[in-house]
Amino acid sequence: MNSKFLKIGQITDLHIGEDENLVQGIDVRANFLKALNSKSMADIDLLVLSGDLANEDGEPGAYHFVKEQVKNLKVPVLVIPGNHDRLDTMAEFFDLEGKIHDGKCYFKHEIEGRTLFFLDSACGTVSRDQLDWLKSETAKVQGKVFLFMHHPPCLCGHRFMDSKYSLKNKEEVQEALAGIPNLTHIFCGHYHSHFELDMGRQKVHVAPSTQMQIDSHAPHFILKSSAPEWMTIEIGENFVETAVYLR
Ligand SMILES: [Fe+2]
Repeated sequence: MNSKFLKIGQITDLHIGEDENLVQGIDVRANFLKALNSKSMADIDLLVLSGDLANEDGEPGAYHFVKEQVKNLKVPVLVIPGNHDRLDTMAEFFDLEGKIHDGKCYFKHEIEGRTLFFLDSACGTVSRDQLDWLKSETAKVQGKVFLFMHHPPCLCGHRFMDSKYSLKNKEEVQEALAGIPNLTHIFCGHYHSHFELDMGRQKVHVAPSTQMQIDSHAPHFILKSSAPEWMTIEIGENFVETAVYLR
């Protein structure tokens, strides 16, 4: 049992552009910095950037900017790709040594006696290789494990995102995740909305975006807000709590 309290900052769907021009009229760089420099992040033990760091298609200028902003942080910074990232370009800016297997970025990270797993859903699916790896690696861990992936593994009740951009092989992924007894919490992004959902005995936390929030009630794209939102995750011995912040 580990009594140390672990606090993780999760920033997702930054959608940073190649240069300083606004992205869809939004100063996404300023939005990201509001999250990164907020008081809520002052005491984190780990920062996770859970995909779509780049706006459209893995713009190098986006990764350069993000790297410059996080390089002096005193805590580890872990990145996974989203559907707008390019892994080969990301790897030029972030240390992904040993984390890329057959073109997919998946790995585990141990911190404060806890084990976090990270999967790559950038192409819209989670490969069988990753699911098999996750099953065998989580079986080696005593105690709970926690998973990060860009796409939520289930529908979320977001009319636009569910119908257009949900994880393609969600049934296969759900079946695999349900077969991991010590997996209790899954942390995602991609939906530009905040959700907390029960998926069987597992809880799925969908973090909002620092770029913008998308209306979950409309069947087509409707901008809900261009204010940045982000999430913190606190893991104690007997609890997991998330908090969403906005500015
Ligand atoms: Fe995405």
